[in-house]
Amino acid sequence: MEVDVQFLPMAPAHNSLSNRVVVVIDVLRATSVIVHAISRGAMEIIPVITVDEAFRMAKNFPAGTTLLGGERGSRKIPGFDLGNSPREYVSEKVGGKRLILTTTNGTRAFHAVSSAREILVGSFLNVGAAARRCFELGKDLLLFPSGDEGNLSLEDVVCGGMVIDCFIHKDKDKGSIHLTDAANAAYFLYQQFKGNLIEAFRVSHHGKDLINKGLEEDLVYCAQVDITDVVPVFRNGVIRAA
Ligand code: MLT
Repeated sequence: MEVDVQFLPMAPAHNSLSNRVVVVIDVLRATSVIVHAISRGAMEIIPVITVDEAFRMAKNFPAGTTLLGGERGSRKIPGFDLGNSPREYVSEKVGGKRLILTTTNGTRAFHAVSSAREILVGSFLNVGAAARRCFELGKDLLLFPSGDEGNLSLEDVVCGGMVIDCFIHKDKDKGSIHLTDAANAAYFLYQQFKGNLIEAFRVSHHGKDLINKGLEEDLVYCAQVDITDVVPVFRNGVIRAA
C-alpha cells in the first residue's frame, strides 16, 4: 500500500485518484468543524465553493431543515447561521440538520479530489479512527492537506504525518506500507510537533492569523486528539457519517 501526501493543494490528475483513498485535512478549521458537527448529530454537510452557491442551494430545502455555515477571512459570512468555529456546532443547533458549508480552502479541497475511490474527512479530533479506516480499506492512500490559499499549510501536513504515524504502528509486523518522499517528509515533520500540536498552530501562518483575530480558543479545540471515532465520508457531493 502506497501512502502519499499532496503538499500543495492542487487537484491531482483525476485518473490518478480512481483507485486511491483520499483523506482531506484542514485542521484549522474546516475539517475539524465537519468532524465535530457530524459527531454532534448533523445529518449531512454539503461543501460548496462559493457563498452564492450556498445561498442558492439552501433554497432547495424545506425551511427549518438547513443551516448555512462557513467563513470568509475566518469571519462568519453575513446572512449565515454559523461561522467556522467548531465550538459553534453544538447538538442543540446542528442535531438532525443539513449544513451547507463554504470555507476558503477546506470545502474547495473536497471538489478537487472528487474522483477518488473514497474520500474521508480527517483532523486531529478523529486522527486514529481515520487511520484505522484507511488501513481497513487497504488501498493506496493520498493525504490531502487543504493548504492556505494555494500555499502549503504546516498544520495540515503535521496532521497528515500523524495519520502516517498511526499507520506505521498498525503495520509494524507486515512491512506492507511504502511511503513516498512526501509522506516521509510529513512523517518527520510530525515528529517535530508530537506531543505539542498546538505549537504547530502557533508557528503556522493560518494559526497566527486566527490568534490575531481573537480565535485562539479554536486552536486549543482543534488540537485535541482522538476525541471522536467519527470518520465522515464525502460521496456524490455530500458528507455524511460513514
Ligand atoms: C478554510 O477552509 O480555509 C479554513 O477553515 C478557514 C478558517 O479557519 O476559517
